[in-house]
Amino acid sequence: MSLHLIDHPVIRERLTRIRSVDSGTAVFRAALHDVSRLLCYEVTRDFETAPVPVITPLCETVGHRLARPVVLAPILRAGMGMLHGFTEILGDSAIGTIGLERDEQTLEARRYHFRMPGDLSECEIILIDPMLATGGSSADAVDELKREGARRIRFACLIAAPEGVAAFTARHPDVPVYAAALDERLDERAYIVPGLGDAGDRYFAT
Ligand code: PRP
Ligand code: URA
Repeated sequence: MSLHLIDHPVIRERLTRIRSVDSGTAVFRAALHDVSRLLCYEVTRDFETAPVPVITPLCETVGHRLARPVVLAPILRAGMGMLHGFTEILGDSAIGTIGLERDEQTLEARRYHFRMPGDLSECEIILIDPMLATGGSSADAVDELKREGARRIRFACLIAAPEGVAAFTARHPDVPVYAAALDERLDERAYIVPGLGDAGDRYFAT
């Protein structure tokens, strides 16, 4: 199972603010932003680089560039809350948006939007969504990305449920999952426990 749990003292502290029912919108947004930025370092840790010549004030030497273009793919809505933390590090990346909404009765994800930039086959795709609950939304998103030609996908989330990790990796064993926390379980409404509640509602203050 390719789950990478990112354990870092600052992430643990910010995650506590994110989880707290006492945190208002501004605190929630700022903490989610901070965690996303820190996660980005770990999610990209094994990206390949290619040599490039660079001229310093003293001489010409060899530097590095990322070997492949990067596409950030947030799942709407809640994925938007993590996007800015990633674009701060990966400023040149393209952004492709995926609109999925979980039906609260059937728990099936309904697609209402999908827009990717050009050819995905040579890109590093980072799928972004704070919540991996049943895994339905993220696994469906990866289905769509693969149909569009994506071959290198990794999934960055904030909190994962064990049930969701198992379901996701069964459908997409080739896609590594990066998470800041692996929580206990899903409740009867498929909310993550202890979790943070409804990520989209908390980020968008709806
Ligand atoms: C939430 C979350 C994920 C999905 C996770 O989105 O942001 O996309 O649920 O659940 P799953 O793993 O069981 O599929 P939601 O459908 O509530 O939409 P929203 O972000 O627009 O609120
Ligand atoms: N979606 C959320 O926003 N929160 C959960 O706990 C599960 C799915």
